[in-house]
Amino acid sequence: MRETDILVLGSGSAGLFFALQIAKRTKLKILIITKKERSESNTNYAQGGIASVMNSLDSYDAHIQDTLIAGAGLCHEDAVRILVEEGPLRIQDLMDLGAQFTRDKSGKLHLGKEGGHSAHRIVHTRDLTGKEIERSLLSAVAEHPQITMLEDHYAVELLTDHQRIDHQRRANEPISCYGAYILDEKKGRVEVVRARKGVMLATGGAGQVYLHTTNPLIATGDGIAMGYRAGAVIANLEFIQFHPTSLYSEGAKSFLISEAVRGAGGILRNQAGERFMTEYDPERLELAPRDIVARAIDAELKRRGEQYVLLAISHLSAAKIKKEFPNIYEKCKQFGIDITKDPIPVVPAAHYSCGGVVTDLHGRTNVKNLYACGEVTMTGVHGANRLASNSLLESLVFSFRAANDLIDSLKKNPKEDEKIKLVEWDESGTENAEEWVVIEHDRREVQQLMWDYVGIVRSTYRLKRSERRLKLISEEIEAYYRKTRVTVPLLELRNITLVALLIVRSALKRKESRGLHYMTDYPEPKPAMAKKDTILQKKI
Ligand code: FAD
Ligand code: SIN
Repeated sequence: MRETDILVLGSGSAGLFFALQIAKRTKLKILIITKKERSESNTNYAQGGIASVMNSLDSYDAHIQDTLIAGAGLCHEDAVRILVEEGPLRIQDLMDLGAQFTRDKSGKLHLGKEGGHSAHRIVHTRDLTGKEIERSLLSAVAEHPQITMLEDHYAVELLTDHQRIDHQRRANEPISCYGAYILDEKKGRVEVVRARKGVMLATGGAGQVYLHTTNPLIATGDGIAMGYRAGAVIANLEFIQFHPTSLYSEGAKSFLISEAVRGAGGILRNQAGERFMTEYDPERLELAPRDIVARAIDAELKRRGEQYVLLAISHLSAAKIKKEFPNIYEKCKQFGIDITKDPIPVVPAAHYSCGGVVTDLHGRTNVKNLYACGEVTMTGVHGANRLASNSLLESLVFSFRAANDLIDSLKKNPKEDEKIKLVEWDESGTENAEEWVVIEHDRREVQQLMWDYVGIVRSTYRLKRSERRLKLISEEIEAYYRKTRVTVPLLELRNITLVALLIVRSALKRKESRGLHYMTDYPEPKPAMAKKDTILQKKI
């Protein structure tokens, strides 16, 4: 058994920023566990930037309003106000840590514009914002002697009262978290990691539940699945955001074409050359919120039987394009597209999970000692549709608040180093996995099913069909899991399938269309369902 004061699961913006705040203000030992190499995270691929009110031409009220409008009646206003008002301070923190953002000729931050924003407020580092944030956070973490990071270590399960040998939880007693079972991927061994003062769940999103996604391979919804199995409350999983514009090209793996391209003047046309957004949102056109643009593209593709639409930016100067979008320019060039001359073929792809583990305004979950931050959570800020570039901001603002809360609560109530006994991981009776083809096939099947039946446009018929199939796959995987020595592909498949099932169950509960959740059999929002989150919790 390994012991630490604070265990952080995940090394994206949420986990790293949280760890740094704790290290800065306490003497606690922090262990960060991450499943691949340290920078591999959604954070690292973020392009557009971080939304925040950074000058007097903008206002908190405007950013709040834009967020609430995009969220389609489901945002928690208190959380949104915190997000917006504390945002500029956290961006300053990032700059103090060494993050270099793009500036104009006068040295002021260059602020971009994205869909749904009424002002220029996107702080960015050209089109590589996430890489710069991750770089600056990782280098600060590397310098901190209190923080240890273990790469290629995979969190399998949270340790709660169920794994305690010395204590029987009474009915109605809140569940507590004591650490996690961690798989050392190189040694193939699972060990108990005990966290004496608290656990932070910062494992990011779940894009890999879908066949086409902008997310890297690590985004398999592990935190949502672990949280659910441990008894954490999960909410609003039906709101999966599809980014309107990912590159359509053989082998491009849904590479993101940032919304900042539309913010800079990019125009969408169908293959007949028609600027179709005039039909779907004549006022905001290409800069309407994402749910509207993604649905418009989907409708246009179905109407015309085409595989992609075209995003043109070539009316801007080549020098400006190369300067502002060097990453997108280079990537498209690899696929034979010169974006200074040619339009970019694009399609929507799964991008962001607005729902997740429910937290309060201090990152606390309903499980004692378990905090959660970043994309794994449902804090209330995104409602039924996240406003562009609000998620990096959310990960910073709420991980900062969680760190404060943990430090304050330890001051008020210093925990004794309680000696508790936890069950070691038991793999007796398990065998090495032989049926690799089964794991690969099932992962593909779940992803295809979710893409075909639980995508941008849904219906009760398709959701029920997918629920039946997912339930069966889930039962088979659970049986296989119990008799097989665990590996990352098996654990990821188990989590992807559970999260897929939870998305479908949430979607079936919401008998209306709202934000990102569009149902053909309930095409309108129902006023009675505004402000109502879709809650799922496992009976423990
Ligand atoms: P991540 O950054 O995803 O970090 C999660 C970490 O957890 C990773 O280190 C991962 O390896 C680790 N992990 C996961 N499971 C386990 C496990 N079982 N055991 C151990 N470790 C685990 N948002 C914006 O605001 N602006 C943008 O411009 C923007 N652009 C984006 C572009 C792309 C292509 C993508 C994919 C997302 C973009 N987003 C953007 C969304 C934003 O990047 C994410 O929501 C945000 O970075 C999430 O941060 P996080 O720390 O919560 O999760
Ligand atoms: C983008 O650059 O379009 C992504 C922004 C986001 O997901 O917030």
